[in-house]
Amino acid sequence: MVKKNACIFISGEGSNLKNLIYRSRDYNFPINIKLVITNNKDANGIIHAKKNSIPYLVINTKFKYYENQVLKILDKNKISLICLAGYMKIISKSFIYKFRKKIINIHPSLLPKFKGLDTFKRIIANKEKKTGCTVHYVNEKLDCGNTIAQKIFYINQEDNEKNLKLKTQSLEYQVFPEAIIRLYRNN
Ligand code: GRF
Repeated sequence: MVKKNACIFISGEGSNLKNLIYRSRDYNFPINIKLVITNNKDANGIIHAKKNSIPYLVINTKFKYYENQVLKILDKNKISLICLAGYMKIISKSFIYKFRKKIINIHPSLLPKFKGLDTFKRIIANKEKKTGCTVHYVNEKLDCGNTIAQKIFYINQEDNEKNLKLKTQSLEYQVFPEAIIRLYRNN
């Protein structure tokens, strides 16, 4: 199988990055992780790039033209898929336009419910009966692109923000790879 070159964008822990690196070692998994990009020089997730000898780049988003630099690097590495895995920076419309249908994001709720930040807090406050996670295409509106894959679980009365996050993330490790496989299934 000819694998597609992917770049993973992170800002924090990078547990989804770690999982995608692990999955991408499989001969049949459709992507090869060529590059990791972060806007946070202290992101713990960088360690997973280092440990696996994957080149990583820390970008300075205060620099006005940083997205042009990123586009050049993506082009140089022939990247055809960008996975946002806990990347906490808004991507510009022009960037999204250039990578249309090639940027996907993982969000810790059953979109279209609970877009944006503080997801678990709002889910508990709203006394939701079920929740989950969603992988979707990135478009110009935050957390609004078409869904590629979603996983659901039922919330117990004892659940709090902390264990909701743990339960959601354990499903993320299944749904992100599944969504990537789905993207290339018919190619
Ligand atoms: C995940 O829960 C994802 O849904 C959200 O950010 C979190 C990133 O976690 N967008 P990690 O950095 O992959 O551990």
